[in-house]
Amino acid sequence: MVMTDEMMKAVENDLVFFATSTADGVPNVVPIGFAKPIDSEHILIVDNYMHKTHENLEKNPEAALVVKDAKKCPYQFKGKVEIFESGKIFDDAVEWVTNVMSKQPKAAMLMTVEKIYSVQPGPDAGKQVD
Ligand SMILES: Cc1cc2nc3c(=O)[nH]c(=O)nc-3n(C[C@H](O)[C@H](O)[C@H](O)COP(=O)(O)O)c2cc1C
Repeated sequence: MVMTDEMMKAVENDLVFFATSTADGVPNVVPIGFAKPIDSEHILIVDNYMHKTHENLEKNPEAALVVKDAKKCPYQFKGKVEIFESGKIFDDAVEWVTNVMSKQPKAAMLMTVEKIYSVQPGPDAGKQVD
């Protein structure tokens, strides 16, 4: 599923809420500042402080994300997340974070956007965007 330029800008410029769950279905949602699309199908999310989120993704890679200002970007992004603790994607995350603050990221999370749903109140709420 491909994100539009408008969706990509909203993810990059806004805080996002990032939801994961344990293998047996206990949900967890956290606000994340370091999230940005790296292309129209992948969102980089940086693990600086994650605990439950990281543990959940190790056991259950399925995640969902919405932007804080859902009035501007009324979409829900869903897909599997891969964890990188070395390599180019991790190095890119380190460069991004260390340019902004003095913190060494623990990991880079890469979400492959598999499905996008509308959360716009009204007749399209919950419908998959095609
Ligand atoms: C405004 C804001 C931005 C945040 N950005 C990040 C971030 O980019 N990366 C990160 O790992 N944690 C970030 N956090 C911390 C997480 O929201 C959360 O506290 C952390 O993942 C631990 O929760 P967990 O155990 O549920 O994973 C941010 C928190 C706030 C309030």
